[in-house]
Amino acid sequence: MAEGSLRHFYGWFTVLGLLVGGLVVLGYYKDEYREWKDYQKKFIHEEMHRAATPQQLATAKRIPVEVRQILLPDLNRVDRCTTCHLAVEDPSYGGYPQPLAYHPLNEQHPPEKFGCTVCHRGQGRATTVADAHGNVPHWDEPMLPLQYIQASCGKCHQAADNPAAPELARGEQVFEESGCRGCHKLGGTGGILGPELDKVGAHRSADWLKKHFLKPAAVSPGSGMPPQKLSEANLEAITLFMLSQTGETAPGYYASMKVIPSAAEGQRLFTQKGCIGCHSVGGKGGDIGPALDDVGLRRAPEWIVRHFRDPQVVSPGTVMPQFGFTETEARALTDFLLHLRDQKVALSLPSFMDQVERGHDVYRKYGCAGCHGQDGKGGVPNPNAKTAQLVPDLIHVADGYTKDELKARILKGQHEINALDPKRPPPPLYMPGWGGTIKDAEVNDLVAYLISLKPKGEDAGF
Ligand code: HEC
Ligand code: HEC
Ligand code: HEC
Ligand code: HEC
Ligand code: HEC
Ligand code: HEC
Repeated sequence: MAEGSLRHFYGWFTVLGLLVGGLVVLGYYKDEYREWKDYQKKFIHEEMHRAATPQQLATAKRIPVEVRQILLPDLNRVDRCTTCHLAVEDPSYGGYPQPLAYHPLNEQHPPEKFGCTVCHRGQGRATTVADAHGNVPHWDEPMLPLQYIQASCGKCHQAADNPAAPELARGEQVFEESGCRGCHKLGGTGGILGPELDKVGAHRSADWLKKHFLKPAAVSPGSGMPPQKLSEANLEAITLFMLSQTGETAPGYYASMKVIPSAAEGQRLFTQKGCIGCHSVGGKGGDIGPALDDVGLRRAPEWIVRHFRDPQVVSPGTVMPQFGFTETEARALTDFLLHLRDQKVALSLPSFMDQVERGHDVYRKYGCAGCHGQDGKGGVPNPNAKTAQLVPDLIHVADGYTKDELKARILKGQHEINALDPKRPPPPLYMPGWGGTIKDAEVNDLVAYLISLKPKGEDAGF
């Protein structure tokens, strides 16, 4: 009997439970609704306040209070950020408190084509601040902290060519100079001791990365990655560069802008088109055309661009070919040439580099410095290795090896490293075999470079 009346109550519990649950959900939606509505009312109020004529006032009053969204099928996104960030396209809102401020870079990336999350990450469909900014559980793409926003530019632009993303370019440079490729592959090139880094920015946060750089073993117990000695600025830059490696690429139209006219792009064209065959820079190159070091002093930028477009019109009878450059390419080359005047950039022009210089490039390209130190100077710890608990320096390889032996040593590698104390864990760093990774011509250059490292004073015969 008692059981029966209890059962009678069960029904009531269920009804009550549903009612409470429903109220919670209702309250939640009401709050969610109110948050963005308040910002829209504020915006309408501001527009009404600014209205100078009755017509403008009427227009302002007619602004609907509604969720706004940008559909971006090519980017597979729906962004509702403009539901609160209502004035991103209106320069007269420059400097307003968020979310009602005008947006920088707006002209190059109009919201109706780009939306917001392609650069900021975060949750495009959400309409509350917390959800949209992505700081909620179960959402794996929190908004990029603003200080790392340049990490997103690399999806569509080459890092080195984007004058509006200097931090990204710097990060890439730190990556190449620190020898990370000695152990990591990125874009298919590099060593095998550590994981590939092409998608690391999609699953590691800025905080994790920074902690890991300073003391890898503290976040990845037993890590073989040596602690990195980086200045504060370089630490930030390499962190940003890692965050930029998400493995995403942009489709179609968005990728078409990979190249921004810039000095770096100009330098690439300069090398690629063989300008150096007729012109010299820094004393190297041909003499059919004038030396270009000071061309920026002789010629105005408009002259140079016109000359590229049609050399015959500007310099009748010239043998300088008409290359058929696009406007962007002509601007980039001109930028590069003007840059020569300002900074006297040291050009590395492959066709004129000697073997040792090329070898130095190979050393950098494959990240040998990650284990052997910059310029082969050593200093990278390898706990419990017989060689002074360090990876050996490469300054003196000319004494111990012939060219062929050195080549063989690099291609084959050496997996068994002699331990100082056999009872302790073996040294974490070994010499990877580079056969199949480094091309034959590159190894020859590399060997020439390593042999050249022997300090001059010790070379009695020379
Ligand atoms: C519900 C309203 C709302 C929505 C939706 C919204 N935001 Fe915001 N956003 C704000 C407010 C309010 C601020 C200022 C206060 C703050 O930072 O939380 C802000 C600030 C920001 C900032 C500056 C943060 C900083 O560190 O200074 C960025 C960037 C931003 N929003 C991007 C976005 C993006 C991207 C989206 C869409 C995925 C979005 N917001 C959606 C209300 C919103
Ligand atoms: C092309 C990439 C890109 C897109 C697309 C983009 N942003 Fe930004 N956003 C940036 C950059 C870069 C900054 C930092 C600018 C600075 O302060 O130097 C920024 C800054 C901001 C800020 C902070 C502004 C400040 O002055 O503190 C907000 C808010 C913001 N964006 C919201 C949005 C919203 C909303 C959208 C979509 C309508 C959007 N962004 C689209 C790149 C982008
Ligand atoms: C989703 C792809 C995409 C992303 C991400 C992106 N851009 Fe762009 N960017 C473009 C495209 C496409 C254009 C060309 C727009 C046009 O002219 O139609 C452009 C144009 C530009 C220009 C103008 C180039 C010129 O001709 O002068 C600059 C500067 C620029 N972007 C900087 C940035 C910065 C800085 C970031 C990162 C905060 C960034 N972009 C992120 C695609 C992108
Ligand atoms: C001597 C070899 C070595 C060098 C040099 C090296 N790493 Fe590593 N790295 C490793 C190993 C091994 C791991 C895996 C263990 C760990 O997580 O620490 C790793 C892990 C990482 C991770 C975490 C990857 C993930 O998906 O969890 C990042 C990021 C990273 N390295 C970046 C770098 C960068 C950037 C540099 C250059 C500044 C660098 N590494 C230099 C060996 C190296
Ligand atoms: C992951 C770390 C690592 C990387 C990256 C690496 N090495 Fe090594 N290398 C070592 C270690 C450890 C040794 C010492 C092996 C031993 O004790 O037998 C070594 C030994 C050598 C030696 C023999 C040195 C001697 O004194 O006998 C040469 C030459 C060499 N490496 C060249 C290179 C070149 C060139 C590269 C870049 C293509 C490179 N290494 C990249 C770890 C590395
Ligand atoms: C076949 C030889 C040849 C090639 C290749 C060549 N040029 Fe020239 N260039 C000349 C000659 C000759 C002149 C001088 C006559 C004239 O003004 O056209 C000249 C003039 C110039 C000038 C004007 C210099 C001044 O001080 O007036 C510039 C700038 C220039 N070239 C840049 C380039 C660039 C950049 C490339 C590669 C994309 C290039 N040239 C390729 C032969 C060449």
